Amino acid sequence: MNRVENLIGRMTLAEKLGQLTMTAAGMAVTGPIIAGDSTDSIKNGTLGSLLNLFGAEHIRQLQHLAVNESRLGVPLLFGLDVLHGHRMLFPIPLGEASLFDSEAWALSARESAKEAAADGLAMTFAPMLDVARDPRWGRSAEGPGEDPWLAARIAEAKVRGFQGADLRQADALAAVAKHYCAYGAVTAGRDYAAVDLSERTVREVHLPPFAAAVAAGVAAIMPAFTDLAGIPMSANRAMLRGRLRERLGFDGVIISDYNAIAELIHHGIAADLAEAATLAIKAGVDIDMMAGAFRRGLPEAVNRGFVAVAEIDECVRRVLTLKERLGLFDDPYRRGSSSESAAVLAQRRQSAREIAARAIVMLKNAAETLPLLSTVRRLAVLGPLADAPVEMRGPWPCAAERYSPVSVLAGLRSALPRAEILHAAGTAIATDDDAGIAAALDLCAAADCIILCLGEAAAMSGEASSRAHLGLPGIQRSFAAAVFARAKGARIPVIVILFSGRALIVPWLIEKADAVLAAWFPGSEAGNAIADLLIGRLSPSGRTPVTWPRDAGQVPIFFGERSSGRPFDANDRFTSKYLDVPNEPLFPFGFGLTYGQFGLSNLRLSTDTVVEDDTLEILVDVGNRGPREAQETVFLFVHDKVASVAPRKLELKGFGKINLSPGESATLSMSLQCSELRFLGVDLEPVFEPGEVEILVGPCADRAQLLVATVNLRLTRNI
Ligand code: BGC
Repeated sequence: MNRVENLIGRMTLAEKLGQLTMTAAGMAVTGPIIAGDSTDSIKNGTLGSLLNLFGAEHIRQLQHLAVNESRLGVPLLFGLDVLHGHRMLFPIPLGEASLFDSEAWALSARESAKEAAADGLAMTFAPMLDVARDPRWGRSAEGPGEDPWLAARIAEAKVRGFQGADLRQADALAAVAKHYCAYGAVTAGRDYAAVDLSERTVREVHLPPFAAAVAAGVAAIMPAFTDLAGIPMSANRAMLRGRLRERLGFDGVIISDYNAIAELIHHGIAADLAEAATLAIKAGVDIDMMAGAFRRGLPEAVNRGFVAVAEIDECVRRVLTLKERLGLFDDPYRRGSSSESAAVLAQRRQSAREIAARAIVMLKNAAETLPLLSTVRRLAVLGPLADAPVEMRGPWPCAAERYSPVSVLAGLRSALPRAEILHAAGTAIATDDDAGIAAALDLCAAADCIILCLGEAAAMSGEASSRAHLGLPGIQRSFAAAVFARAKGARIPVIVILFSGRALIVPWLIEKADAVLAAWFPGSEAGNAIADLLIGRLSPSGRTPVTWPRDAGQVPIFFGERSSGRPFDANDRFTSKYLDVPNEPLFPFGFGLTYGQFGLSNLRLSTDTVVEDDTLEILVDVGNRGPREAQETVFLFVHDKVASVAPRKLELKGFGKINLSPGESATLSMSLQCSELRFLGVDLEPVFEPGEVEILVGPCADRAQLLVATVNLRLTRNI
């Protein structure tokens, strides 16, 4: 009999439920503080995994208790939210989505896994794959943006990066794709609120990233806190057992979100913990994070005859199998037993800097304000986010040290050692204290250039941080207006660096500024990365992974809308529009400027007729007419002209990147697997329909800027 079956055969019910239980441990200066009775639980074999503890030595101590002092010696599983770095932070996930670069997505996950595993961890509650189209929802900061195809590519890269080639390796983490499913569609962008979507939208928009994670071999999946059309995800048998296990073939572990099983009582579908635990286990949840519902509720559920021990065994089997796959039985101390060299850390810091720079989206650069001239002698670096290292970490700072990130001020001081750099915050991020404004304005007069650092505090996005007003908090707007007025009089350019966990709605700011960089929260190397762009060491190349609204009344807003029966027509009142704001966003999905000036021409396809298993080659010439080397990102969209289900106006199917020197041009080639032209038909099953499909290529999701070619879809080659 193998190890897993042998253990199950020897376990008491309490020990089995222990394997299905995860509780939190916290950190303290003197060592780990274990919540409640966890130390005893570890010793008596009734606790199988812990979250929120890190540090090789702390983890080793607890692992030692489990392995040496519990009856069966089953090792513990330690998990943490390692989202975009562990001690060294890369940009927040929404920022990373702006990279449009699978290798970079995988690389930051790989580096994070190495660091976290060196800290003793074996599991990360990442990647977060919730497609989000409403910037009010604070958790959009943790996710992949608005598009399912993009989210699916991020899913694959992240799973590959976190898990490495083999979960058994000392630097591999089990990834947990979360939050399954459709959490990003909470009502009115309010966190934890209800989700009610059509089955079609769930399958077309919210499922694909999870399907991609499963196909990439993700070890675990976390159901969302939320319900889906009345069935909370932690109790959603059709979505967990049905869709995930039976349809997608997922055989890994399903781990609940924090206290989510007990919250089935608040959802109103369970009267007590025994009922809640029954619903969750029947739906397919294997591990109960923090609710204690399995440990306390399942014995009662077994007594009441709701749950059979064989059903519990099924979950224990999956959990033990994961521990085995992670190599924990062979060597429970494998992770955390080697430290990383200074050279490895320096290389990681360099990667964090480059990735942070490349994730920044340049929204405006009037009259080539950027990059800064080498003749700049005196810079005024103003605003509440100019010297705010803690904020640079973003809303989920994981294990990063509080004061170690590089601020904009520090980054500019080291990039421009000979320039005089003046600094004043002017105001705080979110208060109405105007006492510092006069002093900040005084600095403007003497400067060649003003770098104005504005935005949200990191804690204004992330979990439980939805906002109804998506402008700048506090009195930043009036502060900025005063700076613009002063700068205009003295003809000093103002460059805005905007920090946020979402697309902030600040059209007035974009209009007034000479240049704007949307920096998201760039992580540990923030200031260095921003300085690299400002002085032109690198050209900006990030592209917004969300459609950027001009008004909160436009949300939810996204490029993949379906065609309307009354599409907008300026001359026809009874068409789809607002009376008071344009339909168009401020910036389309994929928008982002560079220091180059790119033009696309000569779109051509390898063939004009395809069948489902063909690969279509798409070629386009790209030229750089600008004065600097830069990287252009080219997007590939499709649009079905006539289909049995109303097609979306544009569907993303690919992207390519090309670096070109001034005056250079080259051909970019992208390929499309024609099976990707399938869509969910009338009966919600995938179909490949004959007919014409437009292939659209260009710099962003604005049809007016796209080159178009047409391909014919045929069912068979000979017709
Ligand atoms: C969040 C999850 C997270 C978990 C553990 C929850 O509040 O929704 O995303 O993984 O806490 O920290």
